[in-house]
Amino acid sequence: MILPIVAYGDPVLKKVAEEIDKDYPGLQQLIADMFETMYNANGVGLAAPQIGKSIRLFIVDASPFAEDDEDGENEHLKDFKKVFINPIIEDETGEEWGFNEGCLSIPGIREEVFREEKIKISYYDENFNFFEEEYDGFAARVIQHEYDHIEGVLFTDKISPLRRRLLKRRLEEITIGDVDVNYKMRFPKK
Ligand code: NI
Repeated sequence: MILPIVAYGDPVLKKVAEEIDKDYPGLQQLIADMFETMYNANGVGLAAPQIGKSIRLFIVDASPFAEDDEDGENEHLKDFKKVFINPIIEDETGEEWGFNEGCLSIPGIREEVFREEKIKISYYDENFNFFEEEYDGFAARVIQHEYDHIEGVLFTDKISPLRRRLLKRRLEEITIGDVDVNYKMRFPKK
């Protein structure tokens, strides 16, 4: 089932999300619905707060990037379809690099965001198996963005005050639903 994606301005996007356990009601269905919702919106990541649930769960699938790739540089992304439950970013290292990020909760806006290159993350998968893994490059970037969501942080919190001021009006328009978007959303002030 495709779920409405919560738009910028909803307080759920600003909350630090809560851990869950394997008995969380309807967890497998929720994960399936989140994948369906993400694919429908052509996203590469989706965090539970974005569908209105303040829990520490996010999903990613960057495998389409591997398929589009001509020089084979993104080959390693072909298996990058994962569920992260109760993740902890243990370490972030390397040079900060800029990338034009977007977010399904903030349609139509992209901004350059600087993040460190490598991460070490521990998490549980959908079957509550524990992992500790390292990622770099685009995969790390997607995880860092989604991880921020469960910490109540949006990419617009990580840009300069000047850029944020320039975006203020468009962000307010998103909050009231005055935005063109081709997937189902829930707007806080509509
Ligand atoms: Ni996002």
